[in-house]
Amino acid sequence: MVQLIIVDDYKKMSERAKDIIVHQIDKKPETVLGLATGGTPIGTYKELIHANGENTVDFSKVSTINLDEYIGLDEEHPKSYRYFMKNELFLHINIDEANTYVPKGTCEDLDKECRRYESLIEDIGPPDLQLLGIGENGHIGFNEPGSSMESETHVVELTPSTRTANARFFNTKEEVPTHAITMGIRSIMKSERILLLASGKRKRKAIARLLEGEVDVNFPASILMNHPNVTLILDKEAYGVEEGNDA
Ligand code: PGA
Repeated sequence: MVQLIIVDDYKKMSERAKDIIVHQIDKKPETVLGLATGGTPIGTYKELIHANGENTVDFSKVSTINLDEYIGLDEEHPKSYRYFMKNELFLHINIDEANTYVPKGTCEDLDKECRRYESLIEDIGPPDLQLLGIGENGHIGFNEPGSSMESETHVVELTPSTRTANARFFNTKEEVPTHAITMGIRSIMKSERILLLASGKRKRKAIARLLEGEVDVNFPASILMNHPNVTLILDKEAYGVEEGNDA
């Protein structure tokens, strides 16, 4: 079942996402959260940090499993996703960092790391709630168009469009790593509930295609429509509602 929530803007999207996550942790203090990086969830993380500061949510028993990591960037690299998660969330809430998991992008044996991560998802997870953004090309995690819908954690080569989209986080496009480790589509689909966020005109085409509801291997997010419990929180710009019209 897909639940669609349309809100005015990025701030409202982030607040609604925070409310759903807080409610989930209230219901189950040892919740396993699947987490994402990128521009989209930063506002949600800010809201969660605020809620934690006000003691309205307790992360002490929560575990987190992140979707992906760039290959070649170690945990201390400011553009690595482990670093992002530490700075945008983990350092500012009462989570035990030992209970936070991000794939390691600098392992010698990347296949082994993929297998380790997938068994970790089995052992600790699957996530009760998986937070997702969506790429302009429909990727989820780093599952790029054409990825197998049956994939588990694996190494991917990033498409030029993803490297261009992510260049805004680096000094130049050339600095964006060419490969990443990502949870696979099958790994993501194991989550109990999926919460996908999208904000801004940049995402409008991808959202329109997602809402068409047709599963297409060239548009990986489309598989989510087959998941039994998906919530989409979209702001008006991503949904395509013109200013002044009701959602
Ligand atoms: P963004 O990325 O949140 O930075 O837009 C989303 C994604 O690529 O999955």
